[in-house]
Amino acid sequence: MFVDLLKRRRSIRRFSEEPLSDDQIETLVNAALLSPSSRSINPWEFVVVTDATMREKLAEAKHGAAFLAEAAVAIVIVADTRKSDVWVEDCSIAGSNILLAATDLELGACWAQIRKRTRPDGESAEAYVRTLLEIPEHMGVEAVIGVGRPAEHREPLSEDALQRSKVHYETY
Ligand SMILES: Cc1cc2nc3c(=O)[nH]c(=O)nc-3n(C[C@H](O)[C@H](O)[C@H](O)COP(=O)(O)O)c2cc1C
Repeated sequence: MFVDLLKRRRSIRRFSEEPLSDDQIETLVNAALLSPSSRSINPWEFVVVTDATMREKLAEAKHGAAFLAEAAVAIVIVADTRKSDVWVEDCSIAGSNILLAATDLELGACWAQIRKRTRPDGESAEAYVRTLLEIPEHMGVEAVIGVGRPAEHREPLSEDALQRSKVHYETY
């Protein structure tokens, strides 16, 4: 059931060394490409990084990205900022779909935020990733999703713990 999938999706930051199969990576990429986007512009593009040296460099993009060095694959979500004024929203949906597809494949995954983040030396994480992966200047870098075979267990989310006070009916 879809709700069970949502509950099982937890951020996993520890991974085994086993690589993913080509089919698994294709499923993750397809999940991203199947995402809806405003006016069907599909401004996003994805850089699939399996190379260990490159993943280690991505892991240094900012504080909180270290898990990318251990993940089997790092999927970098970028978008042509000239094509859509809501590219951030479009990229977010694609990222969410990758996380859910990973969960469905019983893989672990976690989002590393890049847009609006800085490195310890003050450089923007976005500029760092853009230079590292030779991404053109007009492409915004939203996030990197690390995916791999999980080496930690996280309990599924529970409906009992939902913040129901966040929901307003009819008026705020
Ligand atoms: C927009 C966004 C940005 C995030 N950025 C990071 C990040 O840079 N590094 C990280 O380790 N986790 C990151 N996360 C994962 C969150 O910390 C995580 O989703 C949150 O703590 C809830 O835990 P859960 O995913 O296990 O339910 C991000 C999640 C989202 C949605």
